[in-house]
Amino acid sequence: MTTPTIELKPSAHPLSDAEREAILANPGFGRHFTDHMVTIRWTEGRGWHDGQLVPYGPLSLDPATNVLHYAQEIFEGLKAYRQPDGSVATFRPDANARRFQASSRRLAMPELPVETFIEACDVLVQQDKAWVPAHGGEESLYLRPFMIATEVGLGVKPANEYLFMVIASPAGAYFPGGVKPVSIWLSEDRVRAVPGGMGDAKTGGNYAASLLAQAEAAAKGCDQVCYLDAVEHKWVEELGGMNLYFVYGDKIVTPTLTGSLLAGITRDSLLSVARDLGYESEEARVSIDQWQADSANGTLTEVFACGTAAVITPVGTVKCNAGEWQQSGGEPGEVTVKLREALLDIQRGVSEDKHGWMHNL
Ligand code: PLP
Ligand code: COI
Repeated sequence: MTTPTIELKPSAHPLSDAEREAILANPGFGRHFTDHMVTIRWTEGRGWHDGQLVPYGPLSLDPATNVLHYAQEIFEGLKAYRQPDGSVATFRPDANARRFQASSRRLAMPELPVETFIEACDVLVQQDKAWVPAHGGEESLYLRPFMIATEVGLGVKPANEYLFMVIASPAGAYFPGGVKPVSIWLSEDRVRAVPGGMGDAKTGGNYAASLLAQAEAAAKGCDQVCYLDAVEHKWVEELGGMNLYFVYGDKIVTPTLTGSLLAGITRDSLLSVARDLGYESEEARVSIDQWQADSANGTLTEVFACGTAAVITPVGTVKCNAGEWQQSGGEPGEVTVKLREALLDIQRGVSEDKHGWMHNL
């Protein structure tokens, strides 16, 4: 398999400093994109080829392009952080690259070499470095690598052509309220993913499948949906775009990876960060009955959601068919806040990177 070297074709008309600074002053999430993007093609018999960094802009696709009909698509999400010395580093890009390969296998797509994935992210961040927000705040540059099937035709089969791309977007808080606790609807009937399905792949279809339940949750006044397992409808899996953690005093517990939830990189990192801070951390099955009972008897002290976009977001109100309750009095819990700061400090380069997670550019 060939590893393409990415050819640089930078924009002759990047946004002016003033326009970029105006965006960086209030980036929101996923609303603005940097001046460039990376594209790499894959063709059967030829492998990966034509790696390029080009000005950000629309794609031209034949209406019969495979991905538009059968959703053969995967994506990733990772962030670049401004370091105290002004340099830039990404967080665990190798982990994203490996998960991207796992998603490729599940969707019958070609695997991009880990080093090519990292190189593509590096090239884009280097080129658009001015778009990485200032050090010290909550903002970062969110990178969105993705791959689509580009073969033209309506046959249902793995495509013989693909396009891999990386785009980048300056990111502030994913939830408009910042670290304000979010409310959760426990979905006891609609499921996100099934055993043997593709719940542990990062593919657009999983997000499409989550939208109706998300709209129903919003109608009930909730910010997010918590999905349960598809067989017994009782075991907690994850939210539409975040994993969950339950805090029992000095122990944090996250649902076991069953194959129908995403193996979050933030989730994985927190298992270690928690131990570094002197907490216990473990993976276990958690039922909704246990969730409700342990909240009522006070042993479950905090609940939080975690993910690249959401960082760590406390859970406040929880609603389900049986009623509703509040976690940690509806305020961000102490352990949640400590873990959040500890993780952000590693990412912002102000505390020791003892796990070797930061990739300096
Ligand atoms: N679960 C889902 C469904 C997600 O989309 C995400 C976001 O990427 C996560 C969990 C958290 O994963 P990570 O921490 O790797 O961003
Ligand atoms: C991420 O956190 O990177 C995601 O892909 C989740 C999505 C809801 C933005």
